[in-house]
Amino acid sequence: MTELRARNLRALGDMDLSPDGQANLVTGHNGAGKTTLLEAIYLLSRGRSFRGSDLRQLVAHGKQAAAISGTVAVGQAARRLGLTISGGSARARLDGADGARRPEIARLLPVLNLDARLMDLVDRGPERRRLLLNWVTFHVEPGFNAAWRRFRRALRQRNASLRQGAGTKAIAAWDGEFCRAALEMEALRKAVAERLRPRFAKIAARLTGMPADWDYHPGWPREDSLEEILRAGLDGDRKQGNTRFGPQRADLVLRLESRRARYIASRGQQKLLASSLMLAAAEVLETEGANRPVLLVDEPLVELDADHGRELLKAFVERGAQLFIAAVETAPYRSWMEAREIRLKEGALV
Ligand SMILES: Nc1ncnc2c1ncn2[C@@H]1O[C@H](COP(=O)(O)OP(=O)(O)OP(=O)(O)O)[C@@H](O)[C@H]1O
Ligand SMILES: [Mg+2]
Repeated sequence: MTELRARNLRALGDMDLSPDGQANLVTGHNGAGKTTLLEAIYLLSRGRSFRGSDLRQLVAHGKQAAAISGTVAVGQAARRLGLTISGGSARARLDGADGARRPEIARLLPVLNLDARLMDLVDRGPERRRLLLNWVTFHVEPGFNAAWRRFRRALRQRNASLRQGAGTKAIAAWDGEFCRAALEMEALRKAVAERLRPRFAKIAARLTGMPADWDYHPGWPREDSLEEILRAGLDGDRKQGNTRFGPQRADLVLRLESRRARYIASRGQQKLLASSLMLAAAEVLETEGANRPVLLVDEPLVELDADHGRELLKAFVERGAQLFIAAVETAPYRSWMEAREIRLKEGALV
């Protein structure tokens, strides 16, 4: 990202910025707008915020609309991304034109967000880990998006039939497409998980000082055919009104010293493991993805001691991703990394 502009985005009235290509340290007092700056970049990529879902909250009080724009370098070309938020909805622009599709925009600006809820990746259920794995696969496997969409559609339809109490035939009518799309997306996703895994293990071992790994679960017993499992599990699915087996249930079960990290990791270890997942994802994207990723990191040193904090910052800096770190206290960062300081005060650059 070579340029970033935000207007009437929360407290950011009119911010016009040329970030450093490598590392940026966003600083200022509480409420200065640091997280909002990270949010602006995330919004450009995803069209939604990482804080809550109501777009209305993003528009500065008393204003009608918020606007964000940014430029990313893609090879020799500069692509312009834009987002206007008003009346609770968002409209994206690409190179000045409306109507670009969200996956195309997302591909131009792959954003990894390490915010205050980062630890959910470790101590919550599988959903966020699965989303991360899907997201990486989306960026490095061109066929994934189509298979994933087909799969989601089949899953939606099958679940709707289950909830409506449809007959066996009507429900089973979805199974063929469900399984075809499921196996297609699963093959791609599993291959990506296998490329991520050694990277995660290496980074996590270095950051935590302990052996770390994960087990990949595809969401159904792999030795059995998915179609057979669906058939055999139909009654149970009916009772739950939900398809209980399939790639929608995949998980990465994180392990620290071979125990379930979710149950044993300390807060700091959770943070380091979650960061390792994100760093591994960034590494895969850097080597295989079409465009350079951006890491958005909010207060990475909170809850870490000095040694672990320093190692984590080193690991961030070693990545080829563009880095935006938000922090109130900049002293530790300044001694451990080189970064352009972006100072905010009451929503404006100073
Ligand atoms: N819709 C809005 N309109 C105006 N101001 C808003 C709006 N939403 C949030 N704010 C304010 O924007 C300011 C910046 O918030 P932000 O979360 O970016 O601060 P921050 O610099 O990350 O602070 P902290 O260090 O506490 O995390 C806050 O004072 C917040 O109350
Ligand atoms: Mg903040």
